[in-house]
Amino acid sequence: MKRWLFLVLLVAFAFALYQPLWGQEEEEYPEEPIIFTKPVKAVVFDHKKHIEDAGLSCDDCHDELFEMAAGTAEENEDFNMKSLYEGKYCGACHNGDMAFASNRKCTTCHIGVLGWQRLQGETKEKEHHH
Ligand code: HEC
Ligand code: HEC
Ligand code: HEC
Repeated sequence: MKRWLFLVLLVAFAFALYQPLWGQEEEEYPEEPIIFTKPVKAVVFDHKKHIEDAGLSCDDCHDELFEMAAGTAEENEDFNMKSLYEGKYCGACHNGDMAFASNRKCTTCHIGVLGWQRLQGETKEKEHHH
């Protein structure tokens, strides 16, 4: 086989191999839970639990309920329980119908200051081991 032909095939093969991985990258969600600290410390949101356990897809939340940028909702004055009870943000699903209601199981979402510190510690641990 001519050397150049071999190289062309090799490049084509490598390209075909990586194609599906590029497609997947668009669908990548944050591994670590997102923690809200405003107005109160702290509320946890875990992509993994919502996607892998609850079977939701990106479209269920992005971009109508939430932007794909952590910290955006927290900038809004109305990111509070009243809005959730009115069916905004998390309350679009956490209404006692699709998921447990926002006026119940407070501590499932609210991990408090201690929970926040614990998660911060875990993140630091991981960074050290990288
Ligand atoms: C149940 C709701 C929900 C689903 C489903 C969901 N997300 Fe998110 N996503 C959020 C929330 C909430 C935030 C934080 C937004 C904020 O802080 O304003 C977020 C933030 C993000 C961010 C930004 C992270 C950062 O650090 O800035 C990315 C990227 C993202 N999501 C990707 C995805 C992808 C990809 C999918 C589908 C595989 C997905 N999300 C599905 C709720 C969801
Ligand atoms: C698109 C719908 C949807 C949105 C939006 C949504 N959730 Fe959920 N959430 C679910 C479903 C479905 C479950 C699993 C069923 C249940 O626990 O009732 C769940 C479960 C949870 C759990 C329990 C996870 C566990 O430990 O098993 C927490 C905590 C949670 N959500 C927090 C949030 C927070 C905080 C927000 C907003 C930032 C949010 N969710 C937005 C649908 C949603
Ligand atoms: C589905 C998740 C979820 C549940 C359940 C939940 N909260 Fe919240 N809560 C949030 C989010 C998100 C915020 C806004 C982000 C933040 O303050 O960190 C918030 C903010 C708050 C705030 C500050 C803003 C405001 O509305 O005054 C208080 C106080 C609060 N929650 C109390 C409660 C109490 C009490 C319960 C139970 C009766 C509860 N929450 C249940 C998600 C939840």
